Amino acid sequence: MGFNLKELARQNILSLTPYHCARDDFTEGILLDANENTHGPASIDVLTEEEKKLSLNRYPDPNQVVLKQQLCDFRNQEASLPSSEIKVIDELKLKPENLCLGVGSDESIDALIRVFCKPGRDKMLVCPPTYGMYSICATVNDVEVVKCPLELCNFQIQPKLIKELLTKDPFINLIYITTPGNPTAKKIEFDLIKELLNNESWNGVVIADEAYIDFAPVGSSLAPLVNQYPNLVVLQTLSKSFGLAGIRLGITFAHESISILLNSMKYPYNISNLTSDVAIRSTTFESIAKMRQNVNLILENRSYVEKKLLALDGMGKNIGGLDANFLLLQVLDNNGKPSNIVAQAVYNKLAVEEQVVVRFRGNELGCTGCLRITIGTKEENEILITKFKQVLEQVLFNESKRKIGKMGKTEIGYSDQSYLPQSKIGKTEFGHSDGKLGKTELGKTELGKTELGKTEIGKTEIGKSQIGKTELGKTEIGKTEFDKTDSNQKDK
Ligand SMILES: Cc1ncc(COP(=O)(O)O)c(C=O)c1O
Repeated sequence: MGFNLKELARQNILSLTPYHCARDDFTEGILLDANENTHGPASIDVLTEEEKKLSLNRYPDPNQVVLKQQLCDFRNQEASLPSSEIKVIDELKLKPENLCLGVGSDESIDALIRVFCKPGRDKMLVCPPTYGMYSICATVNDVEVVKCPLELCNFQIQPKLIKELLTKDPFINLIYITTPGNPTAKKIEFDLIKELLNNESWNGVVIADEAYIDFAPVGSSLAPLVNQYPNLVVLQTLSKSFGLAGIRLGITFAHESISILLNSMKYPYNISNLTSDVAIRSTTFESIAKMRQNVNLILENRSYVEKKLLALDGMGKNIGGLDANFLLLQVLDNNGKPSNIVAQAVYNKLAVEEQVVVRFRGNELGCTGCLRITIGTKEENEILITKFKQVLEQVLFNESKRKIGKMGKTEIGYSDQSYLPQSKIGKTEFGHSDGKLGKTELGKTELGKTELGKTEIGKTEIGKSQIGKTELGKTEIGKTEFDKTDSNQKDK
């Protein structure tokens, strides 16, 4: 069987012709073809001189060839380095026709599902622990997600198991592989991906999401291989190594037969003049050299943060790789075991009391007790390390106190979230804290963005704390649950 695009892509997408406008043919002269406002931006006086030059009253270039060429040059050049793991021969080098640009790679994730998966019928495969957006886009498109976990000892994909699933289920059309992984920070070995690309008995597409690829060794990107493997699609973004998450620019590299479909399907003006202007200036060879310097600084800082945090009592190891701008570190309980309770308490306390926000990942497959920590600036890292040490010590101290327990007076619902304000109902004491935070009402306590749960006489529930999108579980008498984090939630 093997890869056969005509049979794989949805018929309605194959039959699309790209949106065509008069501007594709004529760009000079008096342009009265697109119902723009030729008087210019009404708010011209609030624009900077630079912004005024961007013709913001005009629709942007739907093709973005200049930007695409620079992105091709960037990856082709890397693949030509002697040290590069991924090589490309001249005839198969990337060309602008291989690219489709989107509003972040999140847009590309969704677009690929729409090209290849018929709603309610076709399926896609993901390898947890992984990026939550794949499942969200699948759900939106009514596409079932089949899961084949990463090998949990090394966070690599398991091609043999994946192939078994593909054989069993002929409706799986896409495989999403995050490389380097999120939250694992581990680059997936190309030999393993190749086993899927060379699988002659499967008609489907392998998508390598390389959001973090520039933090892995230079020359690791699979993008230059899309002309050699027409069933490979590579996603990249300017949000991470280029530090441009705010401009929303994602890049899909694909064989031209696939990129034509993506370009036919996309909204014609999805990349704004502002975005393309910044992106073009940020992807020249000089700017790429600066990006490399920045990445190297982040990698140095990452080693420092890793060393300092892992030296703390109560820390386990870095269970992830070193191919991204974050670490996946284990937090232990007083018995030296990875603990979600301790990790979650550290996460909460850091965020609520110290305004240092990391990410609790303990509910992800193979990540028990783990926090994912993005590497910040030197100053931010120093604050993180200092606060982390304090908070971890307090949480572990509280944890040991809880073990000893006071059985005379009933202490209800001790929570590791020791910031919970103290309240008393009759002789019953629940929660505890230094009392600095928030105002306590019978029934409801609010701390900034933190909502503490409801208290009813007869039934005491402490918890339901919400920070960002994470919902912490319920604490009931003698029982603490922290399992309401939705691993499918959009995770940045
Ligand atoms: C693995 C992965 N892919 C894609 C994205 C989305 O990136 P973008 O900002 O380009 O939408 C992220 C963002 O965190 C990510 O972690």
